[in-house]
Amino acid sequence: MPVITCIDDLKRMHRARTPRMFYDYAESGSYTEQTFRDNTTDFQQIRLRQKVAVDMSGRTLASEMIGLPVSMPVGLAPVGLTGMQSADGEIKAARAAEKAGVPFCLSTMSICSLEDVAAHTTQPFMFQLYVMKDQEFLEGIIARAKAVNCSALVLTLDLQILGQRHKDLKNGLSAPPKLTASSIADLATRWRWGIEMLQTKRRFFGNIVGHAKGVTDTANLASWTAEQFDPQLDWTKIARIRDLWGGKLILKGILDADDARIAADFGADAIVVSNHGGRQLDGALSSIRMLPEIVAAVGDRVEIHLDSGIRSGQDVLKAIALGAHATWIGRAYIHGLGAMGEAGVTAAIEVIRKELDVSMALCGERDIGNVGRHNVLVPTEWATAYA
Ligand code: GLV
Repeated sequence: MPVITCIDDLKRMHRARTPRMFYDYAESGSYTEQTFRDNTTDFQQIRLRQKVAVDMSGRTLASEMIGLPVSMPVGLAPVGLTGMQSADGEIKAARAAEKAGVPFCLSTMSICSLEDVAAHTTQPFMFQLYVMKDQEFLEGIIARAKAVNCSALVLTLDLQILGQRHKDLKNGLSAPPKLTASSIADLATRWRWGIEMLQTKRRFFGNIVGHAKGVTDTANLASWTAEQFDPQLDWTKIARIRDLWGGKLILKGILDADDARIAADFGADAIVVSNHGGRQLDGALSSIRMLPEIVAAVGDRVEIHLDSGIRSGQDVLKAIALGAHATWIGRAYIHGLGAMGEAGVTAAIEVIRKELDVSMALCGERDIGNVGRHNVLVPTEWATAYA
C-alpha cells in the first residue's frame, strides 16, 4: 500500500488508474479554466496566523451542518459520474462518509441510483437536484428522494445550461464510455478499472435512465442537460420545489451578495457559496474570494457553506476563518475514489481531517467553533481590486 501524505498523492494515482475521459471530466474547468485555477491559487494567497504557547490539548473539530452533527465541517459534494471513476463509486463514497461521520450528497447525474445508495448505507444522505423540464420526472425524483429518507435537498442553481469543458468534447465523454479506437487503447491500460466495471451493472445514469423521457443520447451528459434541464428556473419555480420537497433545503451555487440576500429571505436552511468548481462561469471570481462579501451580507441570517477549491485541511481552516460555517469537497475525494475506491475516499477524508486538526492547533485554537477572522491574513488588495 503506497504511503499517502496529501491529496496530490491520490490525484497522481487517480490519473494513472482511471480512464482518461473520466479523470479529465473531474479535473477540468470550463473554457479557459481561469476560475478553476483561481479557486485553488486564491486559497494559497490567504495566510494562517501562527500562535504559540497556547494549550492545544482536547481539540475538537465536531460541528453541525444544517443542524445535523458532523465530525468535522466537511461534506462530500455531489459529483456527476462518480460511479465511472470507480465501479459503484457513489456507494463507496457514501460508505466512507458514513464511517467518517461526514455528510454525503448524491448527484442527480450519479451512476448509482438513490435507491441503490440507500440500500447500501445505513445513514440518510443528501440529494442534489437539477431541475428538469419534465414535470413528471421532477415530481417523481423528489418523491424518490423523500422515500429513501434523504436528509436534505441540495438544489443546484448555477447549471441550467452547461459551461463547455473542452476536454469532454475532445475525449467523447459518455457513461458508459463509447468504444472507439482511442477509448479502447486508453481502457486497455486501465485493466483494474475495467475488471471492476465489468463486475457491476451500474454503468448508466441510474437516477434518470428509465425515468426521464425524450433524450436522444442517454449516455451523454451534454445532451441530458441541453434537452432536459429547465432554463426557466427562477425563484418562483424554486419555491414550488421547496413546497414539493417539504424538508431541509440547501441552495448551491450562490456567488453574489444580492442573490445571497434573496436566498436568505427565501428561508433556505443553508447556501453554498460556489462556482461549481470553476466548471460553469469561466471568469467569475473564486468562491473563497467572494465569501467575505456574502458573509457580511447574510452571515447572521443563513448558514453559509463553501465549495470550489478545497484540496487540504488548511483550505478548510481558511474558509471557516473567513466565515463559512462548513465546506464541501469534490475533486479531493474523487481523486481518492479513482486511486483506491472506498479506502481512497477514507484516505482523502482523513488527510484533510489531520491537516485541519494540526493547522488549527498551530493557530492556537482548540475548537473549530472558535476559528475566525483573527486566524488569517488576507491580501489587502482583495478588498479593492475589483469594483
Ligand atoms: C455537473 O454535473 C458537472 O459536470 O459539473
